[in-house]
Amino acid sequence: MTDHHCHLLPQIDDGASDVNDSLEICKFLHECGFDTVLCTPHYIPHIGISLNEFTEQRRSALRSVLTEARQSGIMIPTLRLGAEVRLEQGISQISRLDALCLEGTNLLLLELPYTGFQPWIPDEIHNVAAVHGVRPVLAHINRYWKKYSDAQLEAVITSVEGAVVQLNYECFGFIPPAIRLRRLERYGCPIIYGTDLHMPSEFSRVSKNLRRAKSLKIPQLSIYRGR
Ligand SMILES: [Fe+2]
Repeated sequence: MTDHHCHLLPQIDDGASDVNDSLEICKFLHECGFDTVLCTPHYIPHIGISLNEFTEQRRSALRSVLTEARQSGIMIPTLRLGAEVRLEQGISQISRLDALCLEGTNLLLLELPYTGFQPWIPDEIHNVAAVHGVRPVLAHINRYWKKYSDAQLEAVITSVEGAVVQLNYECFGFIPPAIRLRRLERYGCPIIYGTDLHMPSEFSRVSKNLRRAKSLKIPQLSIYRGR
């Protein structure tokens, strides 16, 4: 089972505050049955950090987690690098944005604005895909079920052929997701899941939602299936 969205890397965003938290998250995810975890720290273009700086921070944060895990002898899932890229107007013009794809793939995890739908959004997703040759993964679409209308979500999801939808397991904690899932299936795009874990205080909520997903026998696709 793959966790496609997680903020376990230490001191790079609002996720794990230190390497001890990172290891706690790794242990927890291993116990939950995840064999692979995508480390997807936030990349927020307007903050001004360069892609080079970000990827260097990410590499060094991963190194610190792997070193500590090895020294303490604990079992952790395989960690892969990625990023959660905030969709902002014009980001398609950022050079080498594809360096942030989920490791070993052309999949780019994109986080839509929380400020509500804006007409430039579908165009920008389309441009990101066209300019960089990437396949967008729309991060935690469940968070927009109340913010965007059905027509607006449809415009986003169909803005590019082959888009992938990512849902957080939290979607099993609030409302019966069956109708929403059926609506997403109508678009024919693959659905993948993630914990979006930031810190150990979220473990009990994530456990509960994972149990619910398992009891509903929700298919767990992995982008690394067959590798
Ligand atoms: Fe996230």
